[in-house]
Amino acid sequence: MAYLNSNYLKLKSGYLFPEIARRVSAFASQYPEKAKRLIRCGIGDVTEPLPEAARNAMLRAVQDMGQHSTFRGYGPEQGYEFLRSKIAEFDYRSRGISIADDEIFVSDGSKCDCANILDIFSHTNCIAVMDPVYPVYVDTNVMAGHTGPADASGAYYGLLYLPCLPENHFVPSTPNHPVDLIYLCFPNNPTGAVASLAQLQKWVDFALANDSIILYDAAYEAFIRDPALPHSIYEIPGATKCAIEFRSFSKNAGFTGVRCAYTVVPKTLTARDESGNPHPLHPLWARRFSTKFNGVSYITQRAAEALYSDEGRQQIAALIDHYMGNADILRKALLASGLLVYGGENAPYLWVKCPTGLTSWQTFDLLLNEAQIVVTPGSGFGAAGEGFFRVSAFNSRQNAIEAASRLANFRW
Ligand code: MLT
Repeated sequence: MAYLNSNYLKLKSGYLFPEIARRVSAFASQYPEKAKRLIRCGIGDVTEPLPEAARNAMLRAVQDMGQHSTFRGYGPEQGYEFLRSKIAEFDYRSRGISIADDEIFVSDGSKCDCANILDIFSHTNCIAVMDPVYPVYVDTNVMAGHTGPADASGAYYGLLYLPCLPENHFVPSTPNHPVDLIYLCFPNNPTGAVASLAQLQKWVDFALANDSIILYDAAYEAFIRDPALPHSIYEIPGATKCAIEFRSFSKNAGFTGVRCAYTVVPKTLTARDESGNPHPLHPLWARRFSTKFNGVSYITQRAAEALYSDEGRQQIAALIDHYMGNADILRKALLASGLLVYGGENAPYLWVKCPTGLTSWQTFDLLLNEAQIVVTPGSGFGAAGEGFFRVSAFNSRQNAIEAASRLANFRW
């Protein structure tokens, strides 16, 4: 008899986005005519073609693979030096942040990295998450056995939930007792909030004082427009001693289907063994990569490298302008319809208060049935997300304009 990982049986429901897709496809089968009008503002998946710089680099890389002199087999698991050096230089050192090339670990996605990082941490850690929260942080801890079962509201015993509400501008305060691992995500998915330098400094001070590690998800940093807001946790003094940062090419460069991301693990970062002795985390993460991963494909890494060329950076800027233009259009429409709207100014997500009396899923159903617009119900991101819904700005301009016109005229 084989025994399963019973932690999976604690998971509350299907993963949020497949569950939404299931409901949308049930709707489409029932109402095929209405389904022709569907506009998807649910999952944050990119719609615009890959930057030309990346496509050209891929074509050149394919040619490299066709000749003995330039052919590549297995690459370095942690990423090719040509890409790690570009990332460290452009995303960090040129912004005054001291990160070495070999502190960058190139991977196939931030979702995977956020999940895989748990391999190098103990089961005994007390873990804090924002609420609402990107479900991957919670579900992967459940799968790894770091929590108890869920209660009636869907909250898992053993996790510390940090409510993010309009009252705290969706940026939680530090807890009044120590925690070991802290997930922070800014610009935030789903609320679109961004922490200021001063707010992040408080978290870094807390982590340093309590020997905690911050797992900082900065997958949406490219969408920050306000020059005063931090793009990286390492802009905060002391953060290289207490934070791991996750970044992705999915949303800025349209790589959701290409798959390339990276994680920064500074060599100064340590955590303790069971006897309380500190050890650097960098070699553990490098070891994990060597054992469980064979690296991102050469062709993909060449495409990512090209994003740092002059033309690559201009093309990324144009993509960000496009999606943030959509965010502005959708934001104005939602405000015009009388709803309270947050986010969407430094993030590609709008976090919207449901009309009085409606739950998140009721609002989801109403918009699907009456306007054929797919949104993401806030309660899918945690108990504190109940009463909100998320609108993604990842769409064509035509769809954003059409969705905006339906939303602005919607009779709630
Ligand atoms: C989202 O819609 O929240 C994201 O697309 C999820 C992800 O990046 O995995």
